[in-house]
Amino acid sequence: MTGSEATTSEVGASQSLTIAIDGPAASGKSTIGGLLAERLGYLYLDTGAMYRAVTWVALERGLDIDDEEALSALARSLEIEITRPGVKDGRQYTVLADGEDVTWEIRRPDVDRYVSPVSACAGVRRALTGQQCRIAQRGRVLMVGRDIGTVVIPDADLKIYLDASPEVRARRRYLQLVERGKEADYERILSNVVRRDRIDSQREVAPLKAAEDAIVVDTDNLSISEVLDVVEQLIAETITDAAKKTGA
Ligand code: DC
Repeated sequence: MTGSEATTSEVGASQSLTIAIDGPAASGKSTIGGLLAERLGYLYLDTGAMYRAVTWVALERGLDIDDEEALSALARSLEIEITRPGVKDGRQYTVLADGEDVTWEIRRPDVDRYVSPVSACAGVRRALTGQQCRIAQRGRVLMVGRDIGTVVIPDADLKIYLDASPEVRARRRYLQLVERGKEADYERILSNVVRRDRIDSQREVAPLKAAEDAIVVDTDNLSISEVLDVVEQLIAETITDAAKKTGA
């Protein structure tokens, strides 16, 4: 155990912080966020899973992906729950959409393909952002996504933006799939990453970008465990500062 690990979990337990981690597809934010939330004993919310759940249900129901009204109505009515894993099959958490377990379904290639256009829909964002804000207000939460530091928790105690080149991110995603025994085509993954970056960062509502007060971590030349160390150190510093302010 490193020094910062002890500090993070000990002091983190006594503080009610909000931590925002944003970044493009496959920047490592889910892996890092999940591990650190667990160490802190904080709620972990991967907001991408919520956009994916809406996309999956829209595809299942055969909705027109260009029909903003239908997508918005779906996002308002769909009950999305993200809970502790429960099942031991490599999942980080369980995602329920109207009670149905869609944890693995939302990782399907067709969801990958349509989730960016669906999440560019203003009504979908309004519905999901509202739910995310309510969760953030409870504190003790680590949320990951694209607009957490800019829109969902603009007053977060710590904002981190994890970045990496499209090639490095595509390679990470490729290796993840190979490790899980899945078929993977590096070129196809790369072009999907580039396409999603373009849609996510050029959309009108809540585009992907680092908040002005976010700390940008370039992870191109770092392993996951090195990124973990950097982020954990930042969290430890935030916790220490917060403890000084509150006298805890
Ligand atoms: O992190 P991910 O790849 O699971 O996210 C899937 C999509 O959801 C991503 O292409 C953009 C969208 N998204 C978003 O617009 N805002 C968020 N806070 C999280 C995800």
